[in-house]
Amino acid sequence: MRAASLLLLAITWTPASVLSAKPSSLVAAGGHVIWSYPGLTPPQSIYDAISAGHAAGVIFFGENIAGNVTHISNVVASLKAANAKSPTKLPLLLMTDQEGGKVRRLPGEPVQSAKQMCGNGTAGTGGTGAGLNLKSVGMNVNLAPVLDVFRTPGDFDDQWQRSFSNDTKKVSACGSEFILAQQAEGVAAAAKHFPGLGAAPASANTDLVPVTLNLTASEIRDIDEYPFRAAIAAGVKLVMASWATYPSIDAARPAGMSSAFVIGELRNRLGFRGVTITDAIEAGSLSAFGNYGDRAVLASEAGMDLILASARDIAQGDSIVTALANALDTGAMDKKAFDRATSRIVSLRKSFKRSS
Ligand SMILES: *[C@@H]1O[C@H](CO)[C@@H](O)[C@H](O)[C@H]1NC(C)=O
Ligand SMILES: *[C@@H]1O[C@H](CO)[C@@H](O)[C@H](O)[C@H]1NC(C)=O
Ligand SMILES: *[C@@H]1O[C@H](CO)[C@@H](O)[C@H](O)[C@H]1NC(C)=O
Ligand SMILES: *[C@@H]1O[C@H](CO)[C@@H](O)[C@H](O)[C@H]1NC(C)=O
Repeated sequence: MRAASLLLLAITWTPASVLSAKPSSLVAAGGHVIWSYPGLTPPQSIYDAISAGHAAGVIFFGENIAGNVTHISNVVASLKAANAKSPTKLPLLLMTDQEGGKVRRLPGEPVQSAKQMCGNGTAGTGGTGAGLNLKSVGMNVNLAPVLDVFRTPGDFDDQWQRSFSNDTKKVSACGSEFILAQQAEGVAAAAKHFPGLGAAPASANTDLVPVTLNLTASEIRDIDEYPFRAAIAAGVKLVMASWATYPSIDAARPAGMSSAFVIGELRNRLGFRGVTITDAIEAGSLSAFGNYGDRAVLASEAGMDLILASARDIAQGDSIVTALANALDTGAMDKKAFDRATSRIVSLRKSFKRSS
């Protein structure tokens, strides 16, 4: 049993397909992938992937930090040292979910929830606090703020007070304040979850189950997308797409796999020019869309720039990089669109040169 599982580990960690993809394609593909790892100590395999140029960045969770800022600062520094050996020489995107209130991976600011910040007029203070906090441990991207406009007390967003308000104008104002203040500290913000999960009931968690939100196109545009306009005007660096399906605009694909949303709504209607990032590729809502690699290719084809491999499993990062590299090598994926995504990611990474 033990020998068998060791063998399985060896197989998963050295996928045969890595050997078949072109080394340059693996680096190109890796530049689109955010990796994650289990527990407190990153395994050697993530350092190797970073040094080989197969990672654009790393997302950190509570289990990686365990409330110890000295520990995570040391880990971040060691990942940067591994990255110094990579062929790309671009700063890593080092990120976490520091929304405020209950959704915080680091101890400290923002202590208030989004709802409390907006109610108290302290969204700017919260954004500054989040920026200073991430910067102090060497991170440069916060997967916040949530720009969902919640509908019903206690629903998916409101149960943890993750939504600033049920009023789209207030979400818009508080969200932009948070973004401006945080980005002034040199930490990029990721407005989420485009076009909005505010209509999701408490049970509708895309991490676990497929979620369909039956909103009209005008509700989506006038209520849910509204705060993203102000966020884009405020210069938000990233937008994270939701994994819910919105049949009035695209009945077949969740937003993060739908060019109707990523290109049609976000880039063409709202004019966003920054970096798009998926929500967790391992999300239960994506069970109908194949393995992690298949999902990453579908999201990339729809126009998503960064793929979030957040299962805290090195094999997941590996399999996604391999799938994207193979799709590039076989011509299954549009190389020109992929290269445009790469240049957006490269610009973002270069913007951190001075601070990292
Ligand atoms: C925090 O991490 C540091 C550095 O790894 C370690 O020396 C220290 O013992 C840790 N503190 C706690 C309370 O675990
Ligand atoms: C202001 O923040 C405090 C916690 O710091 C919270 O108890 C209170 O409900 C907030 N006020 C509003 C109007 O949200
Ligand atoms: C938001 O909630 C408040 C009560 O907390 C309610 O008075 C108000 O009508 C709601 N606004 C919207 C737009 O639903
Ligand atoms: C939207 O409609 C579908 C099909 O009728 C249903 O399965 C789903 O639960 C609805 N979504 C919500 C959030 O009510």
